Amino acid sequence: MARLARALLLASSARFAFAATAQVFAQPSKNPLVQTANYTSFSNNTLHDKVECKGKAFNRIIHIWLENTDFETTASTPIFESLAEQGILLTNYHSVTHPSEPNYIAAIGGDFFGNHDDNMYHIPSNISTVVDLLEDKKISWATYQENMPTDAFYGFLYNSPNYADPASGTYPYYVRKHNPLVIFDSVSQDPVRAKRIRNFNDFANDVVNGTLPQWVFVTPNMVNDAHDTTIDFAASFLEYWLLPLLTDPRVNGPDTLIVLTFDENETKTVQNRVWALAIGNAVPLKLRGTTDDTLYTHYSGLSTVQANWDLKSLGRQDTNASLSNVFSFVAKKTGYKNVQVPASQVPQFNLTGVVPGALTSAAFVPFAAPNLHARGAGSGGVLTRPGLNTKLTQSALPPPVNMLLLNKTTPWQMSPETTSGGSIIPCKDAVCA
Ligand SMILES: *[C@@H]1O[C@H](CO)[C@@H](O)[C@H](O)[C@H]1NC(C)=O
Ligand SMILES: *[C@@H]1O[C@H](CO)[C@@H](O)[C@H](O)[C@H]1NC(C)=O
Ligand SMILES: *[C@@H]1O[C@H](CO)[C@@H](O)[C@H](O)[C@H]1NC(C)=O
Ligand SMILES: *[C@@H]1O[C@H](CO)[C@@H](O)[C@H](O)[C@H]1NC(C)=O
Ligand SMILES: *[C@@H]1O[C@H](CO)[C@@H](O)[C@H](O)[C@H]1NC(C)=O
Ligand SMILES: *[C@@H]1O[C@H](CO)[C@@H](O)[C@H](O)[C@H]1NC(C)=O
Ligand SMILES: *[C@@H]1O[C@H](CO)[C@@H](O)[C@H](O)[C@H]1NC(C)=O
Ligand SMILES: *[C@@H]1O[C@H](CO)[C@@H](O)[C@H](O)[C@H]1NC(C)=O
Repeated sequence: MARLARALLLASSARFAFAATAQVFAQPSKNPLVQTANYTSFSNNTLHDKVECKGKAFNRIIHIWLENTDFETTASTPIFESLAEQGILLTNYHSVTHPSEPNYIAAIGGDFFGNHDDNMYHIPSNISTVVDLLEDKKISWATYQENMPTDAFYGFLYNSPNYADPASGTYPYYVRKHNPLVIFDSVSQDPVRAKRIRNFNDFANDVVNGTLPQWVFVTPNMVNDAHDTTIDFAASFLEYWLLPLLTDPRVNGPDTLIVLTFDENETKTVQNRVWALAIGNAVPLKLRGTTDDTLYTHYSGLSTVQANWDLKSLGRQDTNASLSNVFSFVAKKTGYKNVQVPASQVPQFNLTGVVPGALTSAAFVPFAAPNLHARGAGSGGVLTRPGLNTKLTQSALPPPVNMLLLNKTTPWQMSPETTSGGSIIPCKDAVCA
């Protein structure tokens, strides 16, 4: 099985490599607010949230994540250059590790739990996420995943018709590893919350109905986010999708902050700095077209919303002050004091596979409870979820073990062969490690 899976993977990556040189951007729809059959399912339901909870610096935040591009490559691409003139370019923003999946997990859960691959995982429901913090203050949220075929789709990937080149059959446009909320049981196993893991036609629907939530995470598909393509391809997508939305008050309202960034940089032998931009009407006029060289990481996205809405924290790396500076213009409005980190003390974010955690077989330790004494960027304490054993602190955990040597896999890993929605298939042996 393992050998077959690997062979298929090799065959398919060879195909993508070939395809990557040949792909040309095509609009999946007439415009971003018109639903399309290219996204498999049409919207079934509208969110009924009203923007209510006023933040200190913004009332809505939209995260848009592109893929695997070095800072300089992005910074010298025309559309990104012109977007930078309208926002604050964060010139010292870092991903937290390689490859993709742990970065997405970190941005939602405040840690990547040792994960250093893109396998199929799920995280138990006693582990909190930003969703718990938001709901605690009744702040609406949703993620929109381009080419995810149905709301709350659970599969590892999804092949849909290649809309740019119908003659070539299907294309794996959607991947679970870029959909962080589905990985957390507290979200995907809760039927009400799961509805907020939304198909991209829901984006059009929710915007047109005037109910785009206050916290939004957007993952473009595998070609539009530059993963299988180039930065120029992603630039064409932004020209099609983001530029018109910037002038639409239903998306970029008077107090909307849009954070456009990348999951990780491409070159793993250098620091993991990525291009990141704060744009949108919430960015003060006098700061547009400026740069900010404060050290930020993906954890800053968590601390920034905590500061803005005075939320509780996760008590994980979102409360590690040197890794989670709050975007300066937000820190200023909320009174949060950022930490100046000298260049020589910036951690190496390009290290991979060396952090112990529950999502690594190389140095497995069970999930720990968060640090309940941590102080976040909001004034509340650390949020805990039902089923959390608060005694299981970091220091109470057993030493890391190599699960492969023991010929066991963690119960949090699932068979990556699941390509359709449905049940969790726990690994029974070491094959999927
Ligand atoms: C799907 O995308 C292709 C490529 O842009 C386009 O020609 C086609 O009209 C789209 N289909 C629908 C139903 O919007
Ligand atoms: C608004 O939401 C309703 C309910 O889902 C849907 O029927 C309708 O098409 C939506 N409006 C638009 C213009 O998308
Ligand atoms: C809408 O509901 C139908 C039937 O349950 C389902 O097949 C379809 O995928 C749903 N659409 C979305 C966006 O989930
Ligand atoms: C990480 O980046 C540093 C600084 O650029 C470099 O010296 C180091 O070799 C890199 N580490 C890895 C594992 O590539
Ligand atoms: C990745 O980030 C580093 C350090 O922030 C930057 O110097 C480097 O240029 C980026 N990678 C490449 C190859 O550009
Ligand atoms: C905070 O981050 C630094 C840099 O990665 C790390 O060395 C330190 O262990 C972290 N602190 C905690 C409490 O996790
Ligand atoms: C979280 O829940 C899992 C599954 O029920 C359990 O095995 C684990 O011990 C719990 N961990 C903590 C820190 O509470
Ligand atoms: C684990 O598997 C390896 C290779 O399959 C075998 O050599 C080893 O004896 C096994 N270890 C245990 C503890 O079963």
